[in-house]
Amino acid sequence: MSDHLFYQSRQTRPFIDRAEGIYLWDVDGQRYLDGSSGAMVSNIGHSHPHVLSCMAEQMQKATFAYRLHFQSDIVERFAKRLAQKAPAGLDKVFFVSGGSEAVETAIKLARQATIARGEPDRFKIISRTPSYHGSTLGAVAVTGTPPFADPFAPMMREMPKVRAPLHYLDGLDMDDPTTGAHYVQQMEEKILAEGPESVLAVLVEPIGGASTGALVPPAGYMEGLRALCDKYGLLLIYDEVMTGGGRTGTYFAADHFGATPDMIISAKGLGGGYVPLGAVISRNDLVEDVLDHGGFLHGFTNAAMPLAAAAGMGVLDVVEDEQLCARASRIGGMVYNRLRDLQSQYPFIGDVRGKGLLLAFELMADATTKQVLPKELNAHAKLVNIAYDNGLIIYSRRTRNGAEGDHFMVCPPLISSAAQVDELMGLLEKSLAQFADLYLKEVA
Ligand SMILES: Cc1ncc(COP(=O)(O)O)c(C=O)c1O
Repeated sequence: MSDHLFYQSRQTRPFIDRAEGIYLWDVDGQRYLDGSSGAMVSNIGHSHPHVLSCMAEQMQKATFAYRLHFQSDIVERFAKRLAQKAPAGLDKVFFVSGGSEAVETAIKLARQATIARGEPDRFKIISRTPSYHGSTLGAVAVTGTPPFADPFAPMMREMPKVRAPLHYLDGLDMDDPTTGAHYVQQMEEKILAEGPESVLAVLVEPIGGASTGALVPPAGYMEGLRALCDKYGLLLIYDEVMTGGGRTGTYFAADHFGATPDMIISAKGLGGGYVPLGAVISRNDLVEDVLDHGGFLHGFTNAAMPLAAAAGMGVLDVVEDEQLCARASRIGGMVYNRLRDLQSQYPFIGDVRGKGLLLAFELMADATTKQVLPKELNAHAKLVNIAYDNGLIIYSRRTRNGAEGDHFMVCPPLISSAAQVDELMGLLEKSLAQFADLYLKEVA
């Protein structure tokens, strides 16, 4: 850590030199395989020449033109293409610079839309535990990870939460429709307990991100949430910050379900790590209502910056031209099967889950009882560090509400080849063997 720069902790890492494809090199020449696409960002890999040339071209024209002073052709075209990627009916786009800003944008838009419709008593957003929706205070209020929220509780209005559909912990079959119905019922009970007339929206990650470790909802759950929202007049908002951009095998995870949300929140893979970029894609009528009633009381200086749009457009070109959604499914299937193989080899891998290339495995002391590894072992940090030393980057979090439990995201760029999957899995297996040898003997 330098004298003048700080992040979350005093942890230090090597200095980056360069990055290309699925690899990064530090200044000492050590190479790292980006097994988590950074923080599930670099979907198209690093330094893609097409994106760099799109950015260079735009930089020759205008990097920034304040949106209240000029319209921008590149921003307009990017909004149109993004709306075409979203489910039918979602065709108004508001660009921002990241996921937290996009979450703030969606919840404020939802609130203003309900006021415009003459229902000012609706203000509660029901989200889930665990979940992660960002670091700004509005996003923290809807984030279901207590360690991230607790210190700030007196400074904000925490929003109601229900338990995420953690079917694997509850020993329920995710393919059985009664499982989905069970968790939908929990949501309905929450809506009723809060008073439906006070509830504005339900906010969910359609497929879980880092907080649940790639939790795939049980059959019928998303459709059940949609039906509930319709029944009680609530908006359904999908946080696709991590799932969007093709990562789960479709451009938006919304396409996996027979349930269309009213808004989609996107970031991470949208800019692909080339620029800070996020977006909300909303139902047209919600935006029209807000604009008809005094306008949207919201904005960020860098929102809809032409350079960011050019980069985002370049990323989208690559996703389409290289058919990366289909590739995410195919390569994701390979990685998933290889993780399952590792699970049969290492009994401390208690669960493997996910979709496309949004995959995770969870370590447990006992896979039958779902008992977590001792909290003090800090397995989530130890395995990541061992892998890092072996030249493999993976991403970990505490599984059980951010307090204990250990899961690891295996989410390489969607451009990964079969040979690179072999390399990744070889490094992961080596790291797991070292971890077991160093730390699990006394636990077992
Ligand atoms: C599902 C989800 N929502 C929101 C965010 C916040 O995004 P950002 O870190 O770009 O502000 C994240 C970040 O990890 C996320 O995974």
